[in-house]
Amino acid sequence: MASKFFFSFLILFLSLQFCTPIFTPTLRLIIFISAFPKRAPPIYMNCTVASYGFEAGSHTFKPVDIYRLNVAFVDTHYCRGVFGLKSASVRAYEPDRDQGHGTMFWKIDLYGFSFSYDNSTFKEVAPWKWK
Ligand SMILES: *[C@@H]1O[C@H](CO)[C@@H](O)[C@H](O)[C@H]1NC(C)=O
Ligand SMILES: *[C@@H]1O[C@H](CO)[C@@H](O)[C@H](O)[C@H]1NC(C)=O
Repeated sequence: MASKFFFSFLILFLSLQFCTPIFTPTLRLIIFISAFPKRAPPIYMNCTVASYGFEAGSHTFKPVDIYRLNVAFVDTHYCRGVFGLKSASVRAYEPDRDQGHGTMFWKIDLYGFSFSYDNSTFKEVAPWKWK
């Protein structure tokens, strides 16, 4: 009896070990921060989840604005911004690249898109280009 109980417990324990990484919701967040001069034209952005192709979110930024996007799928999130007649695209979230990081920061300004994990040191990634 006791060993049967122990065996069931062992099975439960092992299955939890295997299931946890799949079922634990990954609380990851992409934070976009726009920093434009006051009279900049609207900045439009939409994001799609790579392998499913559906829209993960979209936002029209005011010159100074913050937009938070929850990452619900462990999959590349592409985001494309449109600024006047120019556009820029980034991999806003990339599972391999961003492993171990809970928050991805993207600054959107006159340069284009810059990336940071700490919201302080940003690396320029994608300049605005003519469409
Ligand atoms: C997202 O933006 C792209 C480029 O502007 C556009 O082709 C696509 O239709 C947009 N998706 C949605 C759902 O609005
Ligand atoms: C990131 O920095 C901006 C200022 O550059 C600030 O407004 C924002 O609150 C910061 N966000 C977080 C989550 O630290």
